[in-house]
Amino acid sequence: MKVGILGAMAEETEAILERFKVTRKQEIGKRVFHEGNWEDHEVVVCFSRWGKVAAASSVTTMLDLYDVDQIIFTGVAGGVSPDLEVGDVVIGEYLVQHDFDASPIPTIQRYEIPLLGISKFPVFAKEVKRAKHAADLFIQEAMTDPQNQEKMQFFSPRIPKVHVGLIASGDQFIASANKLAELQKDFPELLCVEMEGAAVAQVCYERGLPFTVVRSISDKANHEAASDFPKFLKEVAKWYSAEIVERILKAL
Ligand code: ADE
Repeated sequence: MKVGILGAMAEETEAILERFKVTRKQEIGKRVFHEGNWEDHEVVVCFSRWGKVAAASSVTTMLDLYDVDQIIFTGVAGGVSPDLEVGDVVIGEYLVQHDFDASPIPTIQRYEIPLLGISKFPVFAKEVKRAKHAADLFIQEAMTDPQNQEKMQFFSPRIPKVHVGLIASGDQFIASANKLAELQKDFPELLCVEMEGAAVAQVCYERGLPFTVVRSISDKANHEAASDFPKFLKEVAKWYSAEIVERILKAL
């Protein structure tokens, strides 16, 4: 199996690249594609950069030039549902582009992607189940391994949870209660917001290719988001990403 692994943060892909030996590197369009073998799979790893265009372009290159069989996208997200706390993990089951609006055209609904006729891209059940299991296993092992006690103090006394559900993506870092309320009105089941997942979902959906989106919650998308986010990224996110992706690969 050949797996394309992408992260929206350089810190995350750097942590992933420490896990296996890179055998070939190629720069295409300001992105570096790293090839190697990890957990008995051929892998291609790339720092996608931020936003939907950056993610869609990175995934397309992976599909067209590296012929990967599936995609794993990992990153951080702002928690929207009150059930989520910083340190929790979200596995995407559906992904929507919250900034897509062609509804002034009478036949198109708000959030609907024209011609595809859908607004929420589904993730295959097999990929959701595998990623949920990998994230659960990681949290369980992280909580019990004495070596991780310092990092887990970040969330103490709460034990991080793994959630499965709707992720919304848009080209905006959300740090406002008003914007959050607007999104929650249209998507009461929304778990978190980020800037790439639904673009990855659209590209993979159009090709019929399996994909996984894993997000760790770095902030609550409110007025404190911009200061919570870098702290989480530096101290926890990259560790989460590498550990969860490794467990997904093991189960593939
Ligand atoms: N990624 C992490 N936090 C985010 C937020 N608040 N909005 C959008 N993307 C994010």
